[in-house]
Amino acid sequence: MNYWIDTDAGVDDALALLWALQQNLNIKGISTVSGNLPVHATINNVQALLEHCNVTIPVYRGASFSFLGKSINSSHVHGIHLGPFVLEKTYSDQGHFIEGLLNYFKTTTEDITIVTLGPLTNIATFLIHFPEYKTRIARLLIMGGGTCGNIAPYGEFNIYADPEAAQVVFSSQLPIVLSDIDITDNYAYITPEEIEQFNKTQELEEWSLALLRFRVSKSHNPPAARIYDVLPFMYILHPELFTVDLVPVEVQLEGKMRGYTAYDYINNREQNFLFPEESVPRIERLRTIDHQKYTNLFLSNLIKK
Ligand code: RIB
Ligand code: CA
Repeated sequence: MNYWIDTDAGVDDALALLWALQQNLNIKGISTVSGNLPVHATINNVQALLEHCNVTIPVYRGASFSFLGKSINSSHVHGIHLGPFVLEKTYSDQGHFIEGLLNYFKTTTEDITIVTLGPLTNIATFLIHFPEYKTRIARLLIMGGGTCGNIAPYGEFNIYADPEAAQVVFSSQLPIVLSDIDITDNYAYITPEEIEQFNKTQELEEWSLALLRFRVSKSHNPPAARIYDVLPFMYILHPELFTVDLVPVEVQLEGKMRGYTAYDYINNREQNFLFPEESVPRIERLRTIDHQKYTNLFLSNLIKK
C-alpha cells in the first residue's frame, strides 16, 4: 500500500514522523496544513526532519486558513520552529498539496491510504473539488476528536481548528479510522520516568529524546509525553494491539459544542435500536491499547543506531 501524510508538523507530529519513518512504509508525499504552527513553519519542520533522517519524500504546501478563513496556532506548546530546535535553514516545497495529490492519482494506478495529523482543511478541499478520486482512497486514518476538549471545553484541536472541513470528511462515506485524544490520554502516554529509564538502558536518538523531553515540559495533569499523532501509524502496522468501536460520529458546528465529535453509542456496531439515523456515517474509533506494549513499541523504534 502507498501512503500520504497530511500534517501540521508540531512536536507530536514530528515524533510520529520519526517513528513512522522507521517502518518502511511506502510514503509517496507529505502535505502540510496550518494548525499547531502557521503553514510555512510546518513545511520547514517537515523538511528539516526528513533531512535529519536522510530521507527524501516530496513535501507539499497546503491550506493557510480554515474553511471559515481562520487560523489558530499553538506555538506556546510547539515552539516557534520545532519544539526545542531553532531551524536556521529555509526549505522550498514541491508545490501545492492539491497538485501533488492529483499528480499522484494521475501518474499511478495504485490506491492510497491517507493519514491526517492536523486539521482536515486539505483533505476536505480535495474531496469537494475532486470527488472522482474518492474511490482511489483506500482508507483515511485521522487523528482528531474526543469526548473532551484540549483547546476549548468541547473542542479537540484538529477538529476545532476547522469543524466544517471535518464535517465534509466524516460524511464522505470513505472508510475512516479515528484516533481521538481519549486513547492517548487514557493509555498511550509516556511518563517522564519511563522516558529516562528507557534512555538509560537503550539510548534514544538525539532528536527523539529532545522532542520527548520538550513535550513533557509543556504538559501537565500529570506531566507526560502524549504523542497523539503516532497512533494511526501504529494501528496500520499493529492493529492487533487495539480495541476498536464502530460508531456513528457527527461534528458539532454551532455554539459552545462547536468542534465536538459526538459519538452515538446507542446505535453502535450492528445495533440500531434507538432513533437510528442512517445518514450518520459510522467510523472505526480506536478505543484502547495496552500502556506497556504501546510504550515499548514507541520507544524501541526511536533508539540511536
Ligand atoms: O489534539 C491533538 C492534535 O492537535 C495533535 O495532532 C497535535 O499535533 C495538534 O495538531
Ligand atoms: Ca498534529
